[in-house]
Amino acid sequence: MSQTITKEQLITARYGAENAPEQMIWNEQIAGLLSHRSVRHYSDRPLPQGCLETLVAAAQSASTSSNLQQWSVVAVTDPALKAEVRALAAGSNGQANGYIEQAPAILLWVADLSRSHAITEADGLTPEVHDYLDSFLMASVDAALAAQNATVAAESIGLGTVYIGATRNQAKALAALIDLPPRSYVVCGLVVGWPDDAYASDIRPRLPQPVVLHHNRYDAGNLDAHVQAYEATFHAFRERLGMKDKTWKQAVQSAATSMDYMDGREALRATLEARGFGFK
Ligand SMILES: Cc1cc2nc3c(=O)[nH]c(=O)nc-3n(C[C@H](O)[C@H](O)[C@H](O)COP(=O)(O)O)c2cc1C
Repeated sequence: MSQTITKEQLITARYGAENAPEQMIWNEQIAGLLSHRSVRHYSDRPLPQGCLETLVAAAQSASTSSNLQQWSVVAVTDPALKAEVRALAAGSNGQANGYIEQAPAILLWVADLSRSHAITEADGLTPEVHDYLDSFLMASVDAALAAQNATVAAESIGLGTVYIGATRNQAKALAALIDLPPRSYVVCGLVVGWPDDAYASDIRPRLPQPVVLHHNRYDAGNLDAHVQAYEATFHAFRERLGMKDKTWKQAVQSAATSMDYMDGREALRATLEARGFGFK
């Protein structure tokens, strides 16, 4: 996507000049990873031949707990169905995540215990392990890792992507819409398509590394100072893109305190239990 951008430019875009790590190993793959940005405007160009197969091969190449492969992906390309998926992820004002309809596909990443369950029960065995939180978490982690490998593959082709966690807003209705079996749910969606060149998407800066990288033991010291330093980079990014001025701290606090942020996801546990997941 950003072959012409130099190492220094990519690192500065990710951290701001002040907070850039001093030493980094560099290669094409790392450059690709640091070039990531979510894309929220898509052209009507269809996906290239073999695209889904390629993304799924990348996804299946991710590590998977005990090689149990407890995830699936539903590629929604039918425009009418895509519109229904969007409606379920559009938020309470009905306006959010319109790019689901604009792009040629949304991949729905499913944490999927249904296969293991069926294979076990078919031989008269009791899959009691599936009643525990860890099984739910294992399948969810595997689905996320698969999705991220697909994301990296898509970006390497020049495609744009954006994750959609709002697919969990109405998890029950979405599962019914795409005929999911019991003991499965959509962890998140991933919109995939060709970026609309009329809208530049930009690399969104991240926290200084000392906030997330701890050596040997966790150390939250200097958090305030690092967050303060990040606010400057965050502010410059938002200003450059003409976004409403908001500090990162405000974003964190609003996500933590406003139930609007949940937008239906407060019912997720009940939905998952009704779908056969256990949380022992
Ligand atoms: C699991 C997950 C769910 C997300 N859900 C949404 C979403 O519902 N709608 C959206 O526009 N972006 C969504 N995003 C994208 C994030 O907002 C985005 O990754 C973040 O702001 C950082 O920006 P970047 O990806 O451009 O670096 C999601 C990202 C992740 C990882």
